[in-house]
Amino acid sequence: MHADDAGREDATGAGGSTLLSEAREADRTRPYAEGDPILEVRGLVKHYPLTRGILFKKQIGAVKAVDGVDFDLAAGETLGIVGESGCGKSTVAKMLVHLEPPTGGSIRYKGEDVTKLSGRALKAVRRNIQMVFQDPYTSLNPRMTVGDIIGEPYEIHPEVAPKGNRRQKVQDLLDVVGLNPEYINRYPHQFSGGQRQRIGIARGLALNPEIIVADEPVSALDVSVQAQVVNLLDRLQAEFSLSFLFIAHDLSIVRHISDRVGVMYLGRIVEIGTDEEIYDHPTHPYTQALLSAVPVPDPTAREHRERIILHGDVPSPANIPSGCRFRTRCWKAQERCELEVPLLAVPAVFREVDTPARHDSACHFAEEKRVVPQEAPGPEEGSAQAGVPGQEDAPASPRTGETGDKEG
Ligand SMILES: Nc1ncnc2c1ncn2[C@@H]1O[C@H](COP(=O)(O)OP(=O)(O)O)[C@@H](O)[C@H]1O
Ligand code: SF4
Ligand SMILES: [Mg+2]
Repeated sequence: MHADDAGREDATGAGGSTLLSEAREADRTRPYAEGDPILEVRGLVKHYPLTRGILFKKQIGAVKAVDGVDFDLAAGETLGIVGESGCGKSTVAKMLVHLEPPTGGSIRYKGEDVTKLSGRALKAVRRNIQMVFQDPYTSLNPRMTVGDIIGEPYEIHPEVAPKGNRRQKVQDLLDVVGLNPEYINRYPHQFSGGQRQRIGIARGLALNPEIIVADEPVSALDVSVQAQVVNLLDRLQAEFSLSFLFIAHDLSIVRHISDRVGVMYLGRIVEIGTDEEIYDHPTHPYTQALLSAVPVPDPTAREHRERIILHGDVPSPANIPSGCRFRTRCWKAQERCELEVPLLAVPAVFREVDTPARHDSACHFAEEKRVVPQEAPGPEEGSAQAGVPGQEDAPASPRTGETGDKEG
């Protein structure tokens, strides 16, 4: 049905996106230069109360979904947030886009704490922070046309696109994400998974936001399509200087796209740094364990890679271990780990040395351990050690056609 879509991206990007770039150019409310922190998250907490009783609800505890998260997002930067399922990634995302109110902490957008805003000021901020959801099968209303889905945000923010102008805007957005603008009247079921996610991305871009929070945007997609959607996001990020929070449950996908990476465990970030610091010089045992499970394309490197198998389950967020929350699964745990909470900071051993191991890591006994070995020199040289799944088969250019995504 949509075979005419193959190679679509070759024809797009340049033309359609010019309009979006122009809109950006015209928007003079953006004093932020690349590199400034556009978002500063401090001590962010979300506790869901656990109650007993039907008539007289009594709180007996709390699910500590997010339990003190700190990070900065610089203007024009892509920050990857990685962690196992249930560690609180989606809850962080929902708080950033105001779908959930935080229990505590602050979210500063351009210096202003948005958790304290309401009314018009909040509406203006919400416009600038948009979300791309995990599952393109459930996040698009099946009874709405693609045009109505992408244009829906204009109902709340008519100032961005006056009524007469909307159809053209939506068609521009379809073009920008590599879909045929003539598909504007089609329904979600007429598209494949990857194409649906492109529709979700177009909707995220509709209000010309500055920040995109993408919550596992490719996890629900076929491996063969994942790289293409990641490449599309990468291109859009650069083209529109978006600040990007890219959430994923494994480290292999985010390396390709992130400037920095934060690793989450049980409601907190346990290690954060540039992609080189995290992938090549990890110091937190949890990051090292996650990295040891990342697929390595190079067979020689793969042979020399050490697998770290974590024992036991992730503890319940309603019952977080004392001291270091990772201690029940950590092979290095000692008495101090039970007694003292390790702070997310540069560990003392690395403070005075000039090494990529000098980055924030919440571990009392932080040690550098290279888990993914350097690839053997040869034709593969220079390619990502932790490649994107499916990347091996995909063309190197970001403007790939969605040929692997033609089901339905
Ligand atoms: N509305 C809610 N009420 C109670 N617990 C919740 C709610 N939403 C999420 N949780 C719990 O919070 C934890 C973190 O969830 P989530 O942020 O979805 O994790 P992730 O996105 O990393 O998989 C999980 O244990 C989840 O069960
Ligand atoms: S503080 Fe202790 S338990 Fe926690 S990660 Fe470091 S060594 Fe392991
Ligand atoms: Mg999630």
